[in-house]
Amino acid sequence: MRKKIPLFMILLATAILAPSATGAPPAGLPKSILSLRDLAKARGIKIGAAVAMEPLFSDALYRETLAREFGMITPENCLKFRSVHPRRYRYDFRAGDALAGFAADNGMKMRGHTLVWHESLPPWLIWGIFSREEMAEILKEHIQTVVGHYRGRITCWDVVNEAVEKDGRLRETIWLQNLGPGYLEDVFRWAHEADPEAKLYYNDYGAEGMDQKADAVYRLLKELRARGVPVHGVGLQMHFEVEKPPNLEHVAANIKRLAELGLEVQVTELDLRIQEPVTEEKLAVQAGIYRDLLKICLAAPACRAFMMWGFTDRYSWIPDFFPGRGAALIFDRDYRPKPAYYALREALLTEGAGNRSRKSDRR
Ligand code: G3I
Repeated sequence: MRKKIPLFMILLATAILAPSATGAPPAGLPKSILSLRDLAKARGIKIGAAVAMEPLFSDALYRETLAREFGMITPENCLKFRSVHPRRYRYDFRAGDALAGFAADNGMKMRGHTLVWHESLPPWLIWGIFSREEMAEILKEHIQTVVGHYRGRITCWDVVNEAVEKDGRLRETIWLQNLGPGYLEDVFRWAHEADPEAKLYYNDYGAEGMDQKADAVYRLLKELRARGVPVHGVGLQMHFEVEKPPNLEHVAANIKRLAELGLEVQVTELDLRIQEPVTEEKLAVQAGIYRDLLKICLAAPACRAFMMWGFTDRYSWIPDFFPGRGAALIFDRDYRPKPAYYALREALLTEGAGNRSRKSDRR
């Protein structure tokens, strides 16, 4: 059963629903009662955020807020191929190890992101000339070295990231071009050999609803499952715009059909960017979308985690990639909780949403 929240927790948490001036928990109450992570835990779900390494090292408030509010983290960049495997025969686990240490020190789970992607590849791989056999060997060795290094510490991996195009065709990546479509099957098997306990995910954006791309991702996963490939879950990234909100019924229907394949689902990279100027009205709309998406996840027994792509507007990929847009996360630039933060609390405190039976595995 999706867990119910003890009454004392509801009373204490409701008492602090009103925004505080600084974002710090009011004095006198135990920190654990106040955090999103504990409210989420009480509902049998992980709430988490992607982590940028620079502020993790340099910004104490970043570390404190992260540790207080989130029960799961994932590296925004430091385990991508280019970062972790910068030379043909050299791996660099320093940043990933620091993050895994932070997760362990703070009792958090860690997702791995990401093993097989067409972006963030090292020059030696992009410009090198390799036979098909060598490419397969490189990818197998990469996956098994990285997954093996974090065996037992990273419990869930985005094995394949963004392999499907908007029109439903397989993306013409370096992997598809060199290895053919069979790579999608091989990589999950290689990862599974390296850590048989890890949950292995296919992760993508724009596949949240019920359109051409979501249909193609569904068909791909159905086929992989039918062939006995060890793929255990789907990551729905959810990079949305407040001005173009997702169709919530379609998101719920998509999660339902993916679950019917026997797959877990995680919201992996949620953010909701706003076209500037940012107004109170837009922040309220943003808060409502955050709340509704969390409610959908809570109502779906297969939905195991609700991850955001960062947590403070101080550090977010959005302004760099979408000039003129921003304010996509749940804390502002000064770590003050935004309406979206309180909306997530409200969803977590709403009894009735998501009290359905679910599998007990919580890796
Ligand atoms: O670290 C260098 C820095 O030394 C240099 O001065 C600076 C100059 O541009 O670049 C810095 O690296 C950038 C890095 O982000 C850290 O900020 C890279 O150029 C830039 O390409 C990289 O972008 C990341 C992007 O993935 C590509 O890897 C974003 O931070 C990251 O948020 C984004 O994350 C992706 C997920 O992995 C997959 N889903 C979509 C999501 C958003 O695009």
